[in-house]
Amino acid sequence: MKLEVETTCPTQWRFEYQSNDPALDDLYERAKKDQWNVSVDIPWDQGLREDSDVFKRAETAITQTKFFNSLTEQTQSDLLANQAAFMLSQFMHGEQGALLCCGQLVDCVPSIEGKLYAATQVMDEARHVEVFHRYLGLLDRSYDIAGGLKDVLDAILAADSWQAKCVGMQIMVESLAMGTFRNMMIQAEDPILQSIVRLTAQDETRHVAFGILSLSEEIPKMPEEDRIALEDFALAALGILQGRGGGGGGANAGQAAIDAGIDPQEMRDAIAKERKEATGQSFKTEQRSVLHEYMVPNLAKVGLISDRIRPQYQEYGLIREA
Ligand SMILES: [Fe+2]
Ligand SMILES: [Fe+2]
Repeated sequence: MKLEVETTCPTQWRFEYQSNDPALDDLYERAKKDQWNVSVDIPWDQGLREDSDVFKRAETAITQTKFFNSLTEQTQSDLLANQAAFMLSQFMHGEQGALLCCGQLVDCVPSIEGKLYAATQVMDEARHVEVFHRYLGLLDRSYDIAGGLKDVLDAILAADSWQAKCVGMQIMVESLAMGTFRNMMIQAEDPILQSIVRLTAQDETRHVAFGILSLSEEIPKMPEEDRIALEDFALAALGILQGRGGGGGGANAGQAAIDAGIDPQEMRDAIAKERKEATGQSFKTEQRSVLHEYMVPNLAKVGLISDRIRPQYQEYGLIREA
């Protein structure tokens, strides 16, 4: 897997130290005040409860299927533990991507208040890498980064403008994380994971706010062709996240099933068949709602869904109205 990403995005000095953005100053103050410590603020000493799952079975769709219920108890717990580890591993890798990207934002955002705020986010993301790594250590299993996630993070890290990095990371990846954390707050069975998700989500809320504040001011001022390029960048990144193009290398979610002794294709086919018979809904329902409820509205909020690009969002089922 490629470890280096090149970017031509320039590092910018700023010698006007006086901030002109009270809303961003306020966010910076909140960020300083709300720092927490992975070693102190997570109840690690409770340890994992042997007999319980990472996520509540009642909130995990697969456990409602006949396929799942035909498995032995041991295979059921293995499959759920592997799937949880796969998902949390993607968070750990995604947090590293956020750490790297936010380090770049300190360099390339032009305003002093943006640089100071981004510096607090660098520390937030370092803490998130640490906390997910430590939790995966408790689960005693972890997975490589998924191809699509690596591709989208690489595209953001390689982007040649701070605006594109900010859209990709602060609006798209952060909204995706926020939406998934909200789901995880309901799903988490384990009290350690519950406190990880609560504290991490609190940080991510500020990160999305930074993206919305800085981009809603910047985008209306951008030359038309730069704004168009930014709209295209956002849609292309969304395409990678939805699995259209990219995703060549890296881990595949099917590995979680293979490691539990299940053929992932057989599992997918059996579940798809059951769902079709039961409700007519497809397998991707939950993930799409994160895109619908968090990411797309935030892209619209900063002005990146113009009349020009809206039909493509409709075509991909990301916007429902005609
Ligand atoms: Fe994070
Ligand atoms: Fe973040």
